[in-house]
Amino acid sequence: MEYPAKGISPEMSFLEMLDVVNEGFVMNGQEPIEFDSDCREGICGACSLVINGVPHGAQVDPGTAVCQLHMRKFKDGDTILIEPWRAKAFPIIKDLVCDRGAFDRIIQAGGFVSVNTGGAPDANALPIPKPEVERSMDAAACIGCGACVAACKNASAMLFVSAKVSHLAHLPQGKVEAKERVRKMVAQMDKEGFGNCSNQSECQAVCPKEISVEFIAQMNREYLKAGK
Ligand code: SF4
Ligand code: FES
Repeated sequence: MEYPAKGISPEMSFLEMLDVVNEGFVMNGQEPIEFDSDCREGICGACSLVINGVPHGAQVDPGTAVCQLHMRKFKDGDTILIEPWRAKAFPIIKDLVCDRGAFDRIIQAGGFVSVNTGGAPDANALPIPKPEVERSMDAAACIGCGACVAACKNASAMLFVSAKVSHLAHLPQGKVEAKERVRKMVAQMDKEGFGNCSNQSECQAVCPKEISVEFIAQMNREYLKAGK
């Protein structure tokens, strides 16, 4: 369907533009377009739209989630094509909303620390080399949005899973269960129907947190170390 979007200011975010379009529908007694959002500040990963063929509209503003993409990035009069994430493992619920529960189930399979790590120690009682901390924090920036899956021609979830595996693998608290974690998370990833890495780095190109494909290599190493 094609809808006119009137009264849009360049300062509005993409989601605010959709709010305005939806207000028009509600005023006319029509059903609004369903889309997902929560934090609207780039930290929850709920906003999941393919804009003009690219997840999060990364071709006009790389390293940005849809909620932080602004209408000034488009021209007045542009026709903008909006689609939901395209992946079998993310079934469409309605309009632009898809079910990303597969990611939750991958995290439930092992993306946590369950060993007793005691109370919070003094910051200097558990020294961790700075490069390790930095790598861990880089991976932990993943917001679980699923754009990596939507961009990959194999609908691979390896960037997401590798970020979750790696951020714990770089910390002492995560090392105890590292082998079990990677085995279980990869098994769940396969069970959910995500494909293999295409080695084309489409995922990295659209990731709003610019997670590096180097983490996929790290996950593969962790997986090999874990054995059978
Ligand atoms: S790796 Fe990037 S694109 Fe994939 S889920 Fe995490 S934040 Fe989203
Ligand atoms: S609404 Fe939370 S990241 Fe966009």
